[in-house]
Amino acid sequence: MDSIIQMYFVGCIKINLKFIVILVILLSNNGSGLIAPVNVDKSNSAKLIIEHEKIAQNQSSRQGMDYGTNSINDEYMMELPVTVPSSSSSSLSSTLNINKTFFMSSNNSIVTSQVGSVVHLSCLVHVNGDETISWIRRKDYHLLTVGSTTYSSDERFSAIHYNETGDWQLMIKFVQLRDNGLYECAVSSHPSISLFVHLEVTESRAEIDGPIEKFLRVGSTLRLTCRVLRSIENPIYLFWYHNNRMINYDVHLGVNVTIEADNKFSELVIAQTTVNHSGNFTCAPSNAASASNVIHILNGENTIGLAAYGGAAGDSMNAKNQSIYVQTLLLLVIATYQFISQLQIS
Ligand SMILES: *[C@@H]1O[C@H](CO)[C@@H](O)[C@H](O)[C@H]1NC(C)=O
Ligand SMILES: *[C@@H]1O[C@H](CO)[C@@H](O)[C@H](O)[C@H]1NC(C)=O
Ligand SMILES: *[C@@H]1O[C@H](CO)[C@@H](O)[C@H](O)[C@H]1NC(C)=O
Ligand SMILES: *[C@@H]1O[C@H](CO)[C@@H](O)[C@H](O)[C@H]1NC(C)=O
Ligand SMILES: *[C@@H]1O[C@H](CO)[C@@H](O)[C@H](O)[C@H]1NC(C)=O
Ligand SMILES: *[C@@H]1O[C@H](CO)[C@@H](O)[C@H](O)[C@H]1NC(C)=O
Ligand SMILES: *[C@@H]1O[C@H](CO)[C@@H](O)[C@H](O)[C@H]1NC(C)=O
Ligand SMILES: *[C@@H]1O[C@H](CO)[C@@H](O)[C@H](O)[C@H]1NC(C)=O
Repeated sequence: MDSIIQMYFVGCIKINLKFIVILVILLSNNGSGLIAPVNVDKSNSAKLIIEHEKIAQNQSSRQGMDYGTNSINDEYMMELPVTVPSSSSSSLSSTLNINKTFFMSSNNSIVTSQVGSVVHLSCLVHVNGDETISWIRRKDYHLLTVGSTTYSSDERFSAIHYNETGDWQLMIKFVQLRDNGLYECAVSSHPSISLFVHLEVTESRAEIDGPIEKFLRVGSTLRLTCRVLRSIENPIYLFWYHNNRMINYDVHLGVNVTIEADNKFSELVIAQTTVNHSGNFTCAPSNAASASNVIHILNGENTIGLAAYGGAAGDSMNAKNQSIYVQTLLLLVIATYQFISQLQIS
């Protein structure tokens, strides 16, 4: 390891201006964060989200159709033994007072969700009369919805009413960590009654193996693997970006992206890199924080000092120890400093 650094240091002494420019670029890149939100192609992702919601709604309405045969309706309930979703059967025992308004879903339930996804908080109510159902965020007593009307200025909140089931759902789109907490489904009966739902939001993130900055020689193979960590819901897609271009389907440009069926693991391979493959590569799953790598593809003349990064790793220079990387960067700082002070003297 020492020999590599020494070798490198010798390279630094022979300072020339072109080399310093590369050093400065390297140093400025080093400040960049590991995780960065991506400006995903908006039209594309919006479409996917809409699809996602449609499916979710379809599932809910299908549920509604199943229960529809047992539709909760005063006349029926007077005469027929009522079969309702199993969770609520206890509350509808023989002593049922149908003149009362009551909840059919369980109190203090816990719903888990993940940043970026859509969550539906359910509130099954048998309404006797014209009571309205409201959703309140307990953290700040913010009134979110009343009946089917959204009161919050935050457009992510909306109420969905499934008449057949008596479900008054609160839908939250693009769930955020700050949405974590207690929600109240309040019915304006006398006295008013409330059901509580605990929303637990977790955050998932992508990670690209190896250091966040990688150096390769022209013609060598770039291989980036990305995995989605701490994910409770599979992403509905995973995109790779080269700078601002989505490259999942750039097979004709020599880019081979493979993605596991669950969208939680992906590999990007560029068999024959050219200098044009330099830049910022980002792995962006639909519902997790993205990860970026800065890739430097160096042709022969630029590799003199930077060979230190490659070491024995040869093809891909990412296998090297982070500590070498840090120490080398320190040397770069010293070299740059010396160079600048030389400039000031002359
Ligand atoms: C790489 O791209 C991502 C997404 O566009 C951006 O957030 C990040 O700042 C970029 N990193 C660098 C070092 O340019
Ligand atoms: C919803 O369900 C209906 C029938 O069950 C089906 O025809 C339709 O394609 C579904 N829509 C979506 C978005 O899945
Ligand atoms: C429900 O209310 C009606 C009149 O509003 C009454 O005739 C009936 O007995 C009540 N039923 C029960 C179970 O309380
Ligand atoms: C809800 O369903 C009941 C009976 O199932 C019906 O009488 C009522 O009109 C429906 N309301 C709406 C808004 O569709
Ligand atoms: C639900 O639980 C809360 C306490 O956590 C209680 O205040 C409320 O009355 C309960 N609601 C019902 C319908 O039992
Ligand atoms: C892409 O990579 C996969 C697995 O590494 C391989 O099976 C496939 O043939 C490759 N496709 C192309 C176009 O190179
Ligand atoms: C790099 O890109 C430039 C401009 O897009 C193009 O002219 C050149 O041929 C490319 N070089 C390689 C090696 O692909
Ligand atoms: C990399 O550094 C760690 C400590 O930071 C050390 O334990 C490990 O042996 C090093 N690996 C190599 C290949 O030098």
